[in-house]
Amino acid sequence: MIPLSTPHLAGNEWLYVKECLDSGWISSSGDFVPKFESAIAELIGCPHTVACVNGTVGLQLALQAGGLLSGEHVIIPNLTFVATSNAVHHAGGDPILMDVDKECWQLDLDLLEDFLGNQTFQKEENGKISTFFNKTGKRIAFIMPVHVLGNMGDMDRLTSIANKYHLKIVEDSTEALGSTFKGKHAGTIGDFGVFSFNGNKIISTGGGGMIVCREKGEADKLKHLINQAKAHPEEYTHDEIGYNFRMVNVLAAIGLAQAEQFGSHLAKKRDIAKTYKSQLEGLKGITFQKTLPKVEANQWMFTVLVEDPLGLHNWLKNHNIQTRRLWVPMDQLSIHKHLHYIQSDNQSYQLYENGLSLPCSVGLEESQLIHIIGKIKEFIGV
Ligand SMILES: Cc1ncc(COP(=O)(O)O)c(C=O)c1O
Repeated sequence: MIPLSTPHLAGNEWLYVKECLDSGWISSSGDFVPKFESAIAELIGCPHTVACVNGTVGLQLALQAGGLLSGEHVIIPNLTFVATSNAVHHAGGDPILMDVDKECWQLDLDLLEDFLGNQTFQKEENGKISTFFNKTGKRIAFIMPVHVLGNMGDMDRLTSIANKYHLKIVEDSTEALGSTFKGKHAGTIGDFGVFSFNGNKIISTGGGGMIVCREKGEADKLKHLINQAKAHPEEYTHDEIGYNFRMVNVLAAIGLAQAEQFGSHLAKKRDIAKTYKSQLEGLKGITFQKTLPKVEANQWMFTVLVEDPLGLHNWLKNHNIQTRRLWVPMDQLSIHKHLHYIQSDNQSYQLYENGLSLPCSVGLEESQLIHIIGKIKEFIGV
């Protein structure tokens, strides 16, 4: 089976993990955690990074550190992995689902502006103006754009809308390490950004996450929260309800080795996308996710729209090639039936209906890529 997207462990992983095992520093203390944090900080050009156990809790903590209060709204796209919405729920928030645009598959900014302009009101409380949803009377505190499949939307426009309506931004950049908008890295544009290092991401620690913030004080607060809110270096005093969400040294050791190879992983992902595009462009019924001129996407997960994604999925499966449908839109999940969904022509559903992700592992061989493309052409009948 040619898999969809697997980790590529071709650097110092063994060496660094051995160092942990030999020294006994396998748990939550040790050098590799700060080293991995620094490596990611350098890569994205933002000094404040906090490693944690996975991207889902990273998103939850970013919302909590950013001041989300129980019952407040967070706007998220309807087309995303359920972890985005789970994180809002775990932080005590109430997600508002918003449709995505047809071309780039990111949060639909026309719809967002229309919604905020027509379905909300502003009010001053304790000298601070906030935006409230007409239907619920509850404050909309955050917007959480997801850089879907590693692509990005118009972050200038999103930021100016967020500023106008006093919304903080947490970027769900879990899929977008290395993607940039006007040269600025995903995860560094909003108030917080979060990366994931699970098994299928562009670099992986098996499971892991990284929260990016703007100020040292925020990073300190996050470190405090993930470490059971321990208030004294030696005494077991704790000044709030904290979490055990720290990344362990062994995983950070893998992460550091992976970060050292990030450049070659990124180049390979982009090469794979380029080959797919050049070979499949113009074929009957196939379209691609568009990228804005200001965006350089990391091409984490190469995905096409086809007329019969299930048929193509089964055909490729029969030829030992793994593919994956896009996520069932959030509003379609029974756990989300009570949520508000803002849409005009339900693009997220169209994308779900037609989307299919193709194998794009960093370790994918040229001959495998040519084989996959050949099988897709055979299915289409060219
Ligand atoms: C869009 C999105 N959000 C959140 C997550 C959660 O990340 P993790 O699996 O590290 O918890 C993922 C990755 O799985 C994701 O793709």
